[in-house]
Amino acid sequence: MNSAFITFEGIEGAGKSTLARWLAQRLQQERIDCWLTWEPWEPRLREVLLEHSDLRSEEELLLFIADRAIHTRHIRNALAEGKTVICDRYADSTLIYQGYGRGLDIAWVRQLNRFATGGLEPVRTYLLDLPVEVGLSRQQELNRIGAEELAFHQRVREGFLTEAEQNPRRFLVLDATRPLQALQEVIWQDVRSLL
Ligand code: TYD
Repeated sequence: MNSAFITFEGIEGAGKSTLARWLAQRLQQERIDCWLTWEPWEPRLREVLLEHSDLRSEEELLLFIADRAIHTRHIRNALAEGKTVICDRYADSTLIYQGYGRGLDIAWVRQLNRFATGGLEPVRTYLLDLPVEVGLSRQQELNRIGAEELAFHQRVREGFLTEAEQNPRRFLVLDATRPLQALQEVIWQDVRSLL
């Protein structure tokens, strides 16, 4: 495979961004052309989603979906140019946070995700799993959604694990309490087998 679409998922403070950044650098060292990106992606939508305090769950969902539709267009272009795309959160986050977390209809969220992505799915998703309390205590600043109650984050953690169990070919679940270097080794070995 010349180019691959790889995502990182997990609760707040799991280390997704650190590992996504590291993987992009590691690939560049190997002269593999890649694009490191994240969601929410479009800066103005990101600001409304993470800082606006007065959004209903339905409104939040639709803004994440709009953001994903725009972002997916750019991801497709990058893949078509032969780049490997590393994305910090993608469609699973909406399914889990807005579906399992906020309690919106899961089947409906899936359908909206399909609409926004046109069916584009990552070839691999690294799910960084750890106890909610540990993740939240690692996070220095919490955005509007991160600042939700503990029970919300528990539902999110469980939701991720449920989805991973249902998609064992795409998900690789990693214990995010392990040392960074150990996680990097597992991920690198896996990425090499993918590319
Ligand atoms: P971000 O600043 O990227 O933090 P993190 O390091 O936790 O990823 O914040 C993204 C926040 O948005 C995070 O709380 C998860 C939430 N989110 C959703 O609720 N649904 C989504 O579809 C996405 C992409 C993110």
